[in-house]
Amino acid sequence: MTETDFILNDFSLENISNGSITWKTPSNIALVKYWGKQEPQIPENASISFTLDACFTLTTLEYKLKEESQPEHVSGSAVEMLKQVQHDHNFEIYFEGEKKEDFKPKIATFFKRIEKHVPFLNAFEFVIKSENSFPHSSGIASSASGIGALALCVMSLEKAINPAMTDAYFNKKASFLARLGSGSACRSIEGPLIVWGNHPEIEGSSDLFGVKFPYKIHDNFKNYQDTILLVDEGEKQVSSTVGHQLMYNHPFAKQRFKQANSNISKISKVLQSGDLSAFIAIVESEALSLHAMMMTSNPYFILMKPNTLKIINEIWDFRAQSNSNICFTLDAGANVHVLFPAKEKETVNNFIKSNLMQFCQENHYICDSIGNGAISIFK
Ligand code: PMV
Repeated sequence: MTETDFILNDFSLENISNGSITWKTPSNIALVKYWGKQEPQIPENASISFTLDACFTLTTLEYKLKEESQPEHVSGSAVEMLKQVQHDHNFEIYFEGEKKEDFKPKIATFFKRIEKHVPFLNAFEFVIKSENSFPHSSGIASSASGIGALALCVMSLEKAINPAMTDAYFNKKASFLARLGSGSACRSIEGPLIVWGNHPEIEGSSDLFGVKFPYKIHDNFKNYQDTILLVDEGEKQVSSTVGHQLMYNHPFAKQRFKQANSNISKISKVLQSGDLSAFIAIVESEALSLHAMMMTSNPYFILMKPNTLKIINEIWDFRAQSNSNICFTLDAGANVHVLFPAKEKETVNNFIKSNLMQFCQENHYICDSIGNGAISIFK
């Protein structure tokens, strides 16, 4: 599929006036990381992620046809009509019950980027109401779940306008739109494992949207656990926009993109064979490679904290002393995602309580596991 397949050209707003749509959309954690992109949000390498379950954003989009967009005020086709209406996106945003003027520029940029593909947006006024299941300042990136949820709400509006749309197209376009807002958000629409980025060994993969891992996943990875240790609750030190830009003139960029694509080939086989040791080796190396890119960029950053390293060493010691398949991954921050098979839940949770919890801010951590993607909520 190409960009033009995602443009809605011919539509009518005759049977639509106002309503509301709600989506619950999870966060995701990359196993092979995306770090480096080209315009417009095209990844330099393929990435793969576990879709999460307990960490999600709940977003409601209330929509109302603008006065000047009502059929009696306009003439010609819907596309013609939209040329006649005011071109500013008209919306208010509430986050956890509070009106958030400071969230507006990000949403306005998102709407601007997607309007070519969803031209009906201009005809409506919106109120967006959003909340996260995890604390806002926890250092867990909310852009994947937040933008993912908004993209799905916009797609439900498109579905109301064009009811003939298939579910497969709905999900692809939701992922396509989400990608334009925040790259990793395109991996939050479905689950349990999503690949984003064109890769010769992943059938159907694309730079434009995320796809479900297309091969049979070994039982070892069913219901895999992710306990997120909140080492540093606070604003991100480096925004991902800045981070991706640092890959432009990075001395190791080319090699890194090659390494990531080769790790996609390897992890694809591992996910099918169930080889947990090989899984651990790829996932931990990916996390450290991502941070190595930040440490060797210009300017350079260390996003890990002393407690991040203490946790990593504790995990390595525990693994060496037991038969556990526990491992870690990191996002662009200090928090640690502790990954382990479902059957080790009890032993690993005991270990987390006795050895790792002390390194978390105010002992905070979140128990999560792999999920199946976003769900629409009927209110
Ligand atoms: O989606 P962005 O632009 O916020 O980038 C996210 C990049 C990482 O979270 C660090 C890695 C990834 O693949 O999710």
